Amino acid sequence: MKLYHMDFEPVGRRGQCQDNESLLDCARRLGVGIISLCGGQGTCHCCKVRVLSGTVSEPTSSEQEVFSPQELQDGWRLACQTYPISDGKVSVPAESVTTPQRIQVEGLEITVHPEPPVRAYHLQLPTPSLSHPQADADRLLQALNQQYQLGCSQVDIDVLRILSPRLRSWNWQCQATVRNDEVVAVSPYPSRQLGLAVDLGTTKIAGYLVDLSRGQTLAAKGIMNPQISYGEDIISRITTVTKSPAEGVQLQKLAVEALNELAGDLCAEVGADTEEIVEAVVVGNTAMHHLFLRLPVRQLAYSPFVPAVSQALDIKARDLGLHMASGAYGHILPNIAGFVGADHVAMLLATEVGQAKGLILALDIGTNTEVSLVNNGEITTVSCASGPAFEGGHIKDGMRAASGAIERLRIATDGIQYQTIDGVPPVGICGSGILDAMAQLYLAGTVDHHGRMKDNHPHLRTDQKQRQFVLVSEEERDGNPAIVITQQDIRELQLAKAAIRTGIQVLLETNGGSEEEIEQVIIAGAFGSYINVSSAITIGMLPSLPLDRFRQVGNAAGMGAKLALISSSKRSQAQDIASRVHYLELATAPNFMSTFSQASYLGRYRLRQGKRREID
Ligand code: FES
Repeated sequence: MKLYHMDFEPVGRRGQCQDNESLLDCARRLGVGIISLCGGQGTCHCCKVRVLSGTVSEPTSSEQEVFSPQELQDGWRLACQTYPISDGKVSVPAESVTTPQRIQVEGLEITVHPEPPVRAYHLQLPTPSLSHPQADADRLLQALNQQYQLGCSQVDIDVLRILSPRLRSWNWQCQATVRNDEVVAVSPYPSRQLGLAVDLGTTKIAGYLVDLSRGQTLAAKGIMNPQISYGEDIISRITTVTKSPAEGVQLQKLAVEALNELAGDLCAEVGADTEEIVEAVVVGNTAMHHLFLRLPVRQLAYSPFVPAVSQALDIKARDLGLHMASGAYGHILPNIAGFVGADHVAMLLATEVGQAKGLILALDIGTNTEVSLVNNGEITTVSCASGPAFEGGHIKDGMRAASGAIERLRIATDGIQYQTIDGVPPVGICGSGILDAMAQLYLAGTVDHHGRMKDNHPHLRTDQKQRQFVLVSEEERDGNPAIVITQQDIRELQLAKAAIRTGIQVLLETNGGSEEEIEQVIIAGAFGSYINVSSAITIGMLPSLPLDRFRQVGNAAGMGAKLALISSSKRSQAQDIASRVHYLELATAPNFMSTFSQASYLGRYRLRQGKRREID
C-alpha cells in the first residue's frame, strides 16, 4: 500500500491518502464534507471535484457519462471514483461541499396549553436527625407524595447517585422533576424546565429548545445530518449497515453526537446547560428512527418493508447517549410503516388534519415522499419513492439548497432570469430551481409534454449526443463549466414527479374521491416550502387546483415534535393518529403502472383509472 499527500482546497485540509482509498473516502477521513447521495456508487454525480495537480486513476464509465472530454481534461472527476497515483491537489467546489445548506426550522406555530409529561415540584425537606434517620430518597418521595398528593415510588439511579450531596449543599431545598411515578431530576430551586424537540431528517436535523412550563420555544437551529457522508439516500445507508453492522454503530454515534452538539448550541444561545433538559422528543423517518436506535434496518429495504417496531418508545436519554438531566427520557413518536415514519405522524399532528372536515391532501416531499389523504378524519397514507432529484441528486448540475444554488428561474424573451441562494454567483441548481426550469422549458415549448427537448431555442445545444439547455454559460461563469439542464435531467424529474402524482391519484381512487374535491393541499418540509406551486402544477406534479387551496407549512414535523413535547394529550393524539392511519402499498394498487406512466407527462391534466385528460 502506498501513501500519497493530498491537499483539499479551498478548505485547506491536507493529509495522507492511501492508493486504495478513493478521494471521497480520503476527504471524509480528513474531515472534508463532500456530498455523496449514492454512498460512493458513482450514480448520484454529487461528489464532483477538480484535480488541480498530481496523477489519478483513469476516468470510469460513470465519469465519462457525466463529464465531457473537455471537462475530464480540465480535471473534473467524481471523488468516489477517483484514486490517487501520486501526491496531488484537489479543489472541492461549493456545490459539492456538505456544510453550507439552508435548513428550515420554521413552521406553523400552534399554541397549546402546556401539560408536559414531566412536572417540577418545589420542596423544602426536613433535615435528617437521629430521631428521624430516614433515607434521603425516602424523604424526597414522602415529601412529594404528601405535599403534592403524588404517587411517586422511585428515584432514577443516576439521580440517587447525586442526591445526598446535592440536598445537603442546597440546604434541603430543591426542585424535583417527576415523570409518571419516577423522580428523573433534582435541581436547585428555582430552575428552568427545558425540553428538546428534534426532527431527525435524512439530510438535516432541526432542533428546538422549549421552556416546558410556558410551552414557549426559546431557540431553534438546524444542522446537517453528518450521516450524509455515508450516502444521503436512505437506501445507501441501509446497505452500508447491512454489509457491515459495525457501521451501524458509527452511524448511530454520528446522529447522537449531532444531537448533543445541537442541544449544546441551543442551550448556549439562552445561557442554559444541557443538564436542564428534562425531556426530549425525537421524530424521523422509519430508517432514521431505526438507525438512531440501532435497530435492524435490513428488513426495511425488502418487501414487505416492515419496521422493527412501530409503537412510541420512552427510553432513558443516557441509554441513547444524549446529554441531558440525569434521569431524563427521550420519547420517540410512533412509526406507521417501513417508509412512513414518526416524522409524518408529527406532521399530521401539527397540521391537525385528523380533526378537519372534507378532503385534505398532506404531503411531505423529499427523497421519499409521504402523502396522506384525509377524508373527514379517515387517513390513508402512501409512500412514494421520489428519489433524490429534488435534492439535486442525479441532476447534472444539481445541488442541495446551499449558497449559490439557483432557487428560482424564469425564461424570459431576453434571456434567463434567476435568483440564487444568498444572491451570490450561481454554482448549480437546487430542487426548487430545477422545478421552475422544467416548468419554464415546458411553457416556452422547448420541452414537450412527453418531456422531450426540442431544438427551437438558442440556449439549446448537444453535448455527448445529449441535448442540454444552457441556464448559465461558460462565459457567464468565467470559464467554469456551464450550468445546464440535460435531457437526462428532465427524465429524472419526470420519474420523481410521476411518483408523487401517482401516490396522490391512487389515494383519491382508493377513497372514491376526485382532484376537484380536494379542499386543501398541505405541503410540508423544506423543499415543499420553497417550491413555486404554479411550477409544480405546470409540470403535472401536483393536481391543477386554485392556488388558494395550497398551504406551504414549513417544517411541520418539527412542529409536531414540539407539540408532543409540550403536551401529553398531543402525545396521545400522535399515538392515536399512527394507529388510525390506513397504510397503502402503492405498487399493489390497481392501475398503478398505467397511472405512473400517465403521471410522467408534463402539463395540466386530470387522471382517472390510469387515463389522462388534458385540461386548460
Ligand atoms: S457519484 Fe460519487 S458519491 Fe455519488
